[in-house]
Amino acid sequence: MDKTVTLRVYRRDPDLDPAPKYQNYQIELTPGLTVLMALYHVLENVDKTLSFRASCRSAVCGSCGMHINGKNRLACETQLSTLGNEVLIEPLPHLPVLKDLVVDMTTFWEKYERVRPYLITMKQDPAKERLQSPADRKKIDEYIDCILCACCHSSCSLDWWDKEYLGPAALGKMYRFIADSRDEGELERLRLVASEEGVFRCHTLFNCTEECPKKISPTFAIQEMKKRVFFKKLTGKL
Ligand code: FES
Repeated sequence: MDKTVTLRVYRRDPDLDPAPKYQNYQIELTPGLTVLMALYHVLENVDKTLSFRASCRSAVCGSCGMHINGKNRLACETQLSTLGNEVLIEPLPHLPVLKDLVVDMTTFWEKYERVRPYLITMKQDPAKERLQSPADRKKIDEYIDCILCACCHSSCSLDWWDKEYLGPAALGKMYRFIADSRDEGELERLRLVASEEGVFRCHTLFNCTEECPKKISPTFAIQEMKKRVFFKKLTGKL
């Protein structure tokens, strides 16, 4: 493989630069080279001032979500060879930029915390562990795979303008617990989202589902919760 790719990288330090600029870096394409490996190459050999987030390098930690050639992706699992001769790399859209490709995730984590992302239980703690059948575990398989990369959060136009709306990442996490056979907090959770700013703010645009690098569908989770809210209201439980 004897080919050079141009990385066109968003650069900005908000304390110094009134507007962003784009900087080009030439990278020699080698087999298996990911976008993250290319960024590390730049950082270690060309430009020590480039900032980006990464940790696991194996699509597990969710740190390296970026907007690559117009799509939210994980830099560590995106092969450079699939992206053409010029690759545009920008921070996740609609999140404040701290520097270059590093965004401020404060609102993301605030929304995540509001859904109480842990089991709510009333019964006495078992001596050892809370058991779950394989069939029940299967029901939450998809949503357990979420790595909190914020690719869905940053792609949801309703999440951008309605600060009260919990958005696809937090709501997907809420559904993960509602659908968990061991959780007993369904009513409490649904109360939080049984409003216009709650699940009904979702207009089923599917942006979040399209952008999820783990192929999870927050849209489906939100529709399921809408049904549950209707049913509980119908039966007078909500
Ligand atoms: S570095 Fe952990 S998901 Fe990419």
